[in-house]
Amino acid sequence: MRTQTLLLGQTFVADGNPFLEPWQEVIHINSAGALLIEDGMIRAVGNRNDLLCDHPQAQVQDYGTHLICPGFVDAHVHYPQTAIIASWGKQLIDWLNSYTFPEEMRLANPDYARQIAARYLDLALDHGTTTMCSYTTIHAHSVDAFFDAAATRGLRSVAGKTCMDRNAPDGLRDTAQSAYDDSKALLTRWHGQGRATYAITPRFSPTSTPDQLSALGALWAEHPDCPMQTHLSEQPDEIAWVRDLFSNARDYLDTYEMHGLLGPRAILGHAIHLEPREIDRITESGAALIHCPTSNTFIGSGLMDVAGLAARQIPLGLATDTGGGSSFSMLRTMAAAYEIAQLRGTALHPAQLIWLATAGSARSLHLHEKIGRLAPGYEADLTILDLASTPAIAQRAGQARSVWEVLFPTLMMGDDRAIADVWIAGHRHAASSG
Ligand code: GUN
Ligand code: ZN
Repeated sequence: MRTQTLLLGQTFVADGNPFLEPWQEVIHINSAGALLIEDGMIRAVGNRNDLLCDHPQAQVQDYGTHLICPGFVDAHVHYPQTAIIASWGKQLIDWLNSYTFPEEMRLANPDYARQIAARYLDLALDHGTTTMCSYTTIHAHSVDAFFDAAATRGLRSVAGKTCMDRNAPDGLRDTAQSAYDDSKALLTRWHGQGRATYAITPRFSPTSTPDQLSALGALWAEHPDCPMQTHLSEQPDEIAWVRDLFSNARDYLDTYEMHGLLGPRAILGHAIHLEPREIDRITESGAALIHCPTSNTFIGSGLMDVAGLAARQIPLGLATDTGGGSSFSMLRTMAAAYEIAQLRGTALHPAQLIWLATAGSARSLHLHEKIGRLAPGYEADLTILDLASTPAIAQRAGQARSVWEVLFPTLMMGDDRAIADVWIAGHRHAASSG
């Protein structure tokens, strides 16, 4: 007989989008919940006593009052920037030139790329992230390093070669043709291989010539089931630069659209300073926008209008944007998302924050039929939260009057110490310090 595992604890169950329907109707925490896992998949979700009774042969892991969540999905990271996280004093363009590009140059060494990929993935896992959508560097081997390291750990992941053929230093530029050729070869090697998804990845308009954007647009047209990730409207100086570089484009979004780089599988990071036309076109196109709140405050980019964009039914995901973001933790990222929304006059509910970090991000990556929910038929990637992981959090949770009030201090004050356990495709990864 196959091994069945029954996890007992509180369960975070999402049956809809809490930005479009009242969260009370679509998100529930079952305080006596249970999850049956078999062959790496979730087979049943229900009440502890029912599942214990129905599956007496299952191995039982009792998490008590810990919260069993879908594994966190970080929808926009740069794994090559792991070692330069928290670099002081620069805004976007200076930050790229001072810190990011010199570090990305070091990944010309395949051994270093492998070392950083392993370091990044282990840090992400320790912080409860089980799927990540990463940029790499212009070096093809940096993509192999990432996917190899993800496969070793059994992770579902998304990544692509970061293409740049201008406005980047010597040694960090490809060409329109080599970007196309390398991306195509990597896509053929990795897309759909095990748990890997290949994302066509022009870094952003300022570092790609129109020829390169067109070449990648053509590649995307040949492989429309792949996602395409890039950056959009992060800082005013960047937007002004894009306007200078692409004088024939209507706006920043148009620099992508005119080269075949807008569609339902587009994943657009940041998207803070959008024109009304851009919001309309994004809505029509079905593209997803990724909120990177710790990055947007750390690099001084601005306050994304999450609630307003969600109300337009634009798919939204949540991301650390490592290393522009100041944390590897999706909990810290939820806290920053809450604070930014407050600065814009909206209080995001904890149900909305966890949904964004799981089902929302999974939807933005088009992985929403595989991961991001506790539901039968989903892959068993799980993050188990200790809701009293520090004395400060425990004393606040201790006088909560509802389950949401118990959870909220962990979202606001929690970090890797709150990650009690992580499960990857039905296998317990490792107990962390939590
Ligand atoms: N825009 C283009 N490249 C980057 C990057 O590496 N990080 C961030 N935050 N924005 C970018
Ligand atoms: Zn980024």
